Amino acid sequence: MSRQRAKLVVGNWKMHGRIDENAALLTEVAAGASALQKDVRVGVCVPCPYLAQSQALLSGSVVKWGVQDVSAHAGGAYTGEVAAEMAVDFGVTYAIVGHSERRAYHRESPELVGAKTQRAIEAGLVPIVCVGETLEERESGATEQVIGTQLDAVLMLLTEEQAAGIVVAYEPVWAIGTGKTAQPEQAQAVHAFLRRKLQEKGATVANALLLYGGSVKPDNARELFAQGDIDGGLIGGASLKSKDFLAICQAAQTALQ
Ligand code: PGA
Repeated sequence: MSRQRAKLVVGNWKMHGRIDENAALLTEVAAGASALQKDVRVGVCVPCPYLAQSQALLSGSVVKWGVQDVSAHAGGAYTGEVAAEMAVDFGVTYAIVGHSERRAYHRESPELVGAKTQRAIEAGLVPIVCVGETLEERESGATEQVIGTQLDAVLMLLTEEQAAGIVVAYEPVWAIGTGKTAQPEQAQAVHAFLRRKLQEKGATVANALLLYGGSVKPDNARELFAQGDIDGGLIGGASLKSKDFLAICQAAQTALQ
């Protein structure tokens, strides 16, 4: 089965934003994205306090909004956590799960990330499952083993139909926020490995969108997105400036042509 020809570019604002500056950023992104072809999809994952603002400013635009994490629980005595169903109340489409900052700073295990993915799907969200290796793991030749374990812990909990609807983001930890991007061929090699793993889960699962993340900028996006198994990007720092983020979306469109 041939793969869908679509690209997806999602901003990950992390813990950035203030109500006034968000308004300008969201409005500019919505306006710029309206000029893109419809096979270039755009999303922004904002801090939860700004979901209502995102919903107000992005409803009716082509830009979808999302959260950066969800609880593994549906509800209850879990102080500080946000349930996937709560995000749904604000019209959310995407939920990042297993970002390396959560795996590292909040000790999220592959199993917990799997449970969060399952919750997000059950609530009707599209999970963006992040996987990635540290520099030490790469240098010791463990990249495939590490990201394979991370992906397996998610896939084993999902039906084939559920797995076909996820997005996977390969984000080498050494490339996040460091200005060091993986070489396009280096990223492609890992994406091809991830694609094979998805294929093992089922023919339809192999069509899942595979994003690259880690210091994607307007000047390197095009070459990355031109790789056969790179279906777009998860963008941190550069998603905070509308001009840069839209230039990256434009690079996704160019890569499709
Ligand atoms: P970066 O972050 O683009 O700032 O490297 C990417 C991410 O962490 O999702």
